[in-house]
Amino acid sequence: MMDGYTRCCGLIGCPVEHTLSPVIHNFLAGEKKENLVYVPFHVSEGLVGDAVKGAYALNILGCNVTVPYKSEVLPYLKELDPLAARIGAVNTLVRTEGGFKGYNTDMPGLYRAMLEDAVAIRDEQVIILGAGGVARAVAFLMVEKGASRVVILNRTVQKAHMIAEEVNSFCGRKIAEAKPLTQYHELEGNGRFLTIQATSVGMYPYEDSVVMEEEAFYNLVHTGYDLIFNPSCTRFMRLTMEHGGRAFNGAKMLLYQGIIAYELWTGKKIEQDLAEVTFQKMLAAM
Ligand code: ATR
Repeated sequence: MMDGYTRCCGLIGCPVEHTLSPVIHNFLAGEKKENLVYVPFHVSEGLVGDAVKGAYALNILGCNVTVPYKSEVLPYLKELDPLAARIGAVNTLVRTEGGFKGYNTDMPGLYRAMLEDAVAIRDEQVIILGAGGVARAVAFLMVEKGASRVVILNRTVQKAHMIAEEVNSFCGRKIAEAKPLTQYHELEGNGRFLTIQATSVGMYPYEDSVVMEEEAFYNLVHTGYDLIFNPSCTRFMRLTMEHGGRAFNGAKMLLYQGIIAYELWTGKKIEQDLAEVTFQKMLAAM
């Protein structure tokens, strides 16, 4: 029941029509008996600054931010959480005195998902496929959580080099390296890798595509973690499993980025039981 006290949260993006976030947040609000609604806000190109200002004026409690505004939103925030500043992308805005504070819950969300899936990072050698904004954030998460080696493979190798340099200068030693996708065979003879698929290749409706076509690559993969959640089993995941690896999709990352955002907005902790039920609701809505 909405009344005069109902608080509003929402999603700023373009497009927002296929989002699962309303399912997550409205379900959590119902279960936690929080007088809160969550709605999608389709924000057209060039209007993200107006959207943030307007959201503040409307007393909106918080927002998620999605494609293509995760970086574009930065100048319109009053404050930035240090992790979001380092990643250079924000997916959650939290109302504070005088403006919104920006956070990134995608990476903590991925970390929580990997913990739950029993995917270790510490002392692991890691391959990251892709060198966009998401891959960059993943590279920082991997070194922060103790990966022993991070190899960034990308079609455009210069972009992978830029991330590797940034990561190495952050760590003060050479943990990260870059290679073109085609040179993966240089990694042979070094054991198997945790491999994170951080490109959009293979996402619905292009589920027949995969960023790495060469089957021999998958002999290098002991665990394939695809950040794509639709389809639930990507071609990358299938190829990983066909070569004896474990494979996971990005659905739990989506769940936990939402749960962490909800905790930031309401100050309430979401218990593990409730997280699991919310996950089932989310899957049913896919
Ligand atoms: P995001 O910020 O969401 O990570 P992005 O910056 O568009 O998105 O990055 C997409 C990644 O997917 C890039 O690494 C891109 O490779 P390039 O740097 O060479 O462009 C990769 N990518 C997208 N389409 C691809 C394709 N068909 N084959 C190989 N890599 C692809």
